[in-house]
Amino acid sequence: MQKRGAEAVITAMEWRGRPAVEKRRVTKGYRDPALDEELRRSRLRKEVRLFREARRAGVPVPVIYDIDPAGHTLVMQRIEAPTVKERLREPGDRSVIVDAIGRTVGQLHAAGVVHGDLTTSNMLWSDDRLYLIDLSLGEKTDSTEARGVDLRLLKEACTSAHYDRPELFDVILAGYRAAFRDADTAIEKMREIEERGRYT
Ligand SMILES: Nc1ncnc2c1ncn2[C@@H]1O[C@H](COP(=O)(O)OP(=O)(O)O)[C@@H](O)[C@H]1O
Ligand SMILES: [Mg+2]
Repeated sequence: MQKRGAEAVITAMEWRGRPAVEKRRVTKGYRDPALDEELRRSRLRKEVRLFREARRAGVPVPVIYDIDPAGHTLVMQRIEAPTVKERLREPGDRSVIVDAIGRTVGQLHAAGVVHGDLTTSNMLWSDDRLYLIDLSLGEKTDSTEARGVDLRLLKEACTSAHYDRPELFDVILAGYRAAFRDADTAIEKMREIEERGRYT
C-alpha cells in the first residue's frame, strides 16, 4: 500500500514484526530548497511532539516506532482502518462515529492541543475507536481562537457537499461539550470566526 497525502508519502511496512507505515515528507519543488528542508524537519518534529502530547491525554493516536530527521521520515503503528471520510460515505448509522469525533476533539483541546488540519481524512475509524493522525500543523496551546479555527474546519468538512448532513455537526458539538469543560467558549469563538468570514 502506498498513499500520497498533501505533503507526504505513506508506505505500508513492517517494523520489528509489527504492522507499520512509513511517513516520508517529500520535497516540494516550488519551495526554496533551504526553506523546504527546514519545513520538512520542523513539521516532523512537531508531529512527533504532538502525537506524544495527545497520547498522554488519552487521545488515540498511532504509536511512534522510529524517527529519522535526516530522512524526513517517521515510522508509526499502522491502523488498519478506513479514514472517517471513507467510512462516512458508507450507508448505515453514523452517529457513533460522529459522537466520537466530537469527544476526541474535545479531549484533545482539553489537553491543550489544537490539531490544525481537522479534516475527516485525518481521522481513522478502527474497532470502534477514532484515531487522530497528521498533527504536524497543530500546536500546543490553550488559545480559544485556535480552538475556534479547529471547529470551523471540522464544520466545513461535515457540511461539504458529499456528506450533505449538516445536522451531523450538532452531534459533534454534543460530544465536544461532553468531553471539554470550556467547550462553549470555543464554540462561540467558532461562530464569531464564521461571522467574520461572511463580511470579509
Ligand atoms: N498510521 C497510519 N495507519 C494507517 N494509515 C495511515 C496512517 N497514517 C496515515 N495513513 C494514511 O495516509 C493518508 C495520509 O497521511 P497523513 O499523515 O494525513 O499525510 P499528509 O500530511 O500528507 O496528509 C491518511 O489519510 C491515511 O489514509
Ligand atoms: Mg493528512
